Amino acid sequence: MAKLMLNKVTKKFGDFYAAKDVSFEAEEGEFVTLLGPSGCGKTSLLKLIAGFYQADDGEVLIGGKNVNFVPPEKRNTAMCFQSYALFPHLNVSHNICYGLQQKKVAKTEQIARLNTALKQMDLEVHKVKMPNQLSGGQQQRVALARAMVTRPDVILFDEPLSNLDAKLRESVRFEIKQLSRQYNLTSIYVTHDQAEALAMSDKIIVLNKGSIEQIGTPQEIYHQPINRFVADFIGVANITQADVESLGDNRYKVRSIFGEFIAYSEKAPESSKIYICFRPEDAELCDANGGENQFTVEVKQTAFMGNLTEVQATLPQQPDYKIRLQLTKFPHIPEDNKLTFSLPQTAIRFLEAV
Ligand SMILES: Nc1ncnc2c1ncn2[C@@H]1O[C@H](COP(=O)(O)OP(=O)(O)OP(=O)(O)O)[C@@H](O)[C@H]1O
Ligand SMILES: [Mg+2]
Repeated sequence: MAKLMLNKVTKKFGDFYAAKDVSFEAEEGEFVTLLGPSGCGKTSLLKLIAGFYQADDGEVLIGGKNVNFVPPEKRNTAMCFQSYALFPHLNVSHNICYGLQQKKVAKTEQIARLNTALKQMDLEVHKVKMPNQLSGGQQQRVALARAMVTRPDVILFDEPLSNLDAKLRESVRFEIKQLSRQYNLTSIYVTHDQAEALAMSDKIIVLNKGSIEQIGTPQEIYHQPINRFVADFIGVANITQADVESLGDNRYKVRSIFGEFIAYSEKAPESSKIYICFRPEDAELCDANGGENQFTVEVKQTAFMGNLTEVQATLPQQPDYKIRLQLTKFPHIPEDNKLTFSLPQTAIRFLEAV
């Protein structure tokens, strides 16, 4: 049975839906990410799970038990916030032990868990410091340790890394993942950073305006987005309308501003007029006689990123349509700025109907 289950959870503020019919599950030990733009309802969902908000409709189940009417302190969840919310008058060790004291965990057990956490989070030298004597990254690690030592049924993270610099974010990201695996923690992790979601998650839930757009593994979400919102929100996608006609055997004739292409898709199109997309890295630079599904672009800008080059281009026949491409080698750009690309049949993804 799933450790955490939301069943058609709805939360309204006035006429506004912060969560609308939200259903998903997290298995024991699973790392589930809620991903979506600002205001889409991520924090509200965490608060519904923790019990700080009451659902207007639907059920929250933890360990198979409906907890709709269980107060926050009786739900075995722990929340780790964006702002670290450490107690300013308690030192590092007392901050970490706070939840354990509340739960009346035996003193010897408290000390054992504290020492393990201090070691894991690399906080031993800071154990008697006050929060205002710590850097942002150190405070964040204390907040993580404080949440984890209580061994909650479900641990809720609300953008815990957003105040950290890029380098520290990567190392703390790694630590969170490592610890959640080590303790088999069921984690619900909120972020609006798609790279973070792709790197950390067992399962990603893409949210938009209080509703779920798609649930899937990072690979599914990236490679098989179901609509324009998901395709565009996760990674970069070249999206356009197309007329699609079946040729049998999962092959389709696809007509769009790029020309007439052949696509291979195991997923059938929703209609004969749909949106399609492809990722910048899927198109391959080709010479005039090689490659299927060819199209020519006019290069507007290139950005050398070291290991790859980003190309911004338009179609000569559609100067307003902006295309993003990505190459592993810096291309030779001819005088007329035109480059020809080829798109593998499997790179064309079918999105929703127009
Ligand atoms: N207590 C509240 N009263 C009224 N409206 C609220 C309340 N809490 C949240 N909302 C509204 O619900 C919507 C979702 O808010 P929420 O904080 O869940 O978004 P979020 O996805 O966490 O955004 P962010 O990425 O900016 O943190 C917002 O429009 C917000 O204004
Ligand atoms: Mg939020």
